[in-house]
Amino acid sequence: MIKHLRDAGDLDAGNATLILDTARELARLTGGREVKKLPTLRGRTVVNLFYEDSTRTRISFEAAAKRLSADVINFSAKGSSVSKGESLKDTALTLQAMGADAVVIRHGASGAPHRLANWVDGSVVNAGDGTHEHPTQALLDAFTMRERLGRLAGLNVTIVGDVLHSRVARSNVVLLATLGAKVTLVGPPTLIPVDIASAEVSYDLDAVLPTSDVVMMLRVQHERMNASYFPSAREYSRRYGMDGARMARLPEHAIVMHPGPMNRGMEISPEVADSPRSTIVEQVANGVSVRMAVLYLLLGGK
Ligand code: NCD
Repeated sequence: MIKHLRDAGDLDAGNATLILDTARELARLTGGREVKKLPTLRGRTVVNLFYEDSTRTRISFEAAAKRLSADVINFSAKGSSVSKGESLKDTALTLQAMGADAVVIRHGASGAPHRLANWVDGSVVNAGDGTHEHPTQALLDAFTMRERLGRLAGLNVTIVGDVLHSRVARSNVVLLATLGAKVTLVGPPTLIPVDIASAEVSYDLDAVLPTSDVVMMLRVQHERMNASYFPSAREYSRRYGMDGARMARLPEHAIVMHPGPMNRGMEISPEVADSPRSTIVEQVANGVSVRMAVLYLLLGGK
């Protein structure tokens, strides 16, 4: 197994599949049990280093590490010496001195996990770096697709919306290509980057719906926008939002995904978000199993 998970590109098909299979086994082992803990990582220390806001990912990594009996240290930049101007490097050296076996990092700067890996001895896991990558989200998405549809190879996955600012989309494009799915990116031309290889591009959502097995809606990331990328929220919704009428154009078996947090009523209507085709809540639950598998395999747990 690899030591760090910085990008989806760190994983070849064998390792990615091993993570998904291990996640399934861990879900089976801990799912129905009253005590959800396994002794696998007892005595190991996992640090969650979060420089950006997070609900799902932070809680999910914490739950995953605790279910494997690791000691968990949660660090959020707010309320730490970061607000006194401490650099990432000095923070990393502090964690190193505490003997972190794994550091899970979310950071606003693309590439921060790569830098961190030079400064600590433990494994580095990227929990989202700027607009770059979010590999465990791609793994939990792949896990969810495989659970719902039985396979990944040959699936048509349509990723819709603010691809430009989405680390989720970038990691999904890479991982899904590794696992043999076909990805189509859809959104307004201003929000589709030109540098993404291994994916098709369409600006017409309605045209691709009938052949999609999976439609993954992305949040419009207002906080990363420093210009106006589309005329209005209403116009965006009308062209690229998933609503009941569009959902009806999907094949019977197709699923609708969203990494959360959602702008309900903008990229996805409540009717779709709360429908049986939506996997949004499953994605969160699967995230814990997938992150357990990642920590377990990276730390060589027994
Ligand atoms: C995403 C993220 O933070 O990149 N959320 C998540 O991790 N579940 C997507 C987003 O913020 O829109």
